[in-house]
Amino acid sequence: MSKHIRKAVFPVAGLGTRFLPATKAMPKEMLTVVDRPVLQHVVEEAREAGIEHFIFVTGRNKGVIEDHFDIAYELEDTLRKRGKAKEYELLMSALPPPGATSFTRQQAPLGLGHAIWCARDIVGDEPFAVLLPDMVTMGTGPKKNRCLSQCMDAYNSYGGNIIAVEEVPKEDTDQYGIVSLGKDFGDTFEITGMVEKPPKGTAPSNLIISGRYILGPEIFDLLSKGKQGAGGEIQLTDSMIELAKMQSFHGVRFDGRTFDCGSKLGFLAANVAFALADPALASGFQNELRKIVGGF
Ligand code: G1P
Repeated sequence: MSKHIRKAVFPVAGLGTRFLPATKAMPKEMLTVVDRPVLQHVVEEAREAGIEHFIFVTGRNKGVIEDHFDIAYELEDTLRKRGKAKEYELLMSALPPPGATSFTRQQAPLGLGHAIWCARDIVGDEPFAVLLPDMVTMGTGPKKNRCLSQCMDAYNSYGGNIIAVEEVPKEDTDQYGIVSLGKDFGDTFEITGMVEKPPKGTAPSNLIISGRYILGPEIFDLLSKGKQGAGGEIQLTDSMIELAKMQSFHGVRFDGRTFDCGSKLGFLAANVAFALADPALASGFQNELRKIVGGF
């Protein structure tokens, strides 16, 4: 039986240059999709998938992330005293249990592989999940479960390493990690190769690595070599290519929608999709959208 996945790593050290000036003083992970930060959506996805310990790899100027996942004493006390039970409960239900969060810093922006390596001592010698906070997922399948939960199902069937994938138009493949397909089981398949940001026209498929991973702890030894790859960065994909020589990798075609909130278009689309999925907002928001699209 595969080992239970208890811990997840969230690399949140990125500068967010694509969202300046919004991200001048505020971490990009704190931008809101409807009523909660992008990062809270992703942490909720991890909780839903059974994750018990949340490891944030932060950087300078990211202190507010730590505050967001802690109690806010004065605020909570005021809500209680004013009888705002609903708002109070909303905060309490999102609060991780005591001792269930860890924070470490990536001191320099050396790449995703380096960020994950910074969490090695906190993860220890057990398989773990990685969730890239730019990617916000919405379960639209029959179970409405989000991407990491679907990865966990695949992990329970196959063990080894799991990567969620998503189709993109061929012309966009140079912006992502791309996988090659082996034996195909429909929702899942064997991964026979990976490449990070292949030059235009050379990608082995249009299936991108979409930001949810389950990895064995052996990845850390490979990452510790600190080899630079695409864009001069220490790439997670390069160490996964090495790990795939020793262990199995399966891909999961996520039954749902993924929004790349690292881009303005993806972020705006996420806001529209989540607002339309909220029963309290849906009809009013549809009216507003109709007015805007119809030219006011
Ligand atoms: C990272 C990964 C890449 C993946 C992408 C998903 O790239 O290295 O394999 O496809 O996230 O967003 P980045 O977006 O950090 O350049």
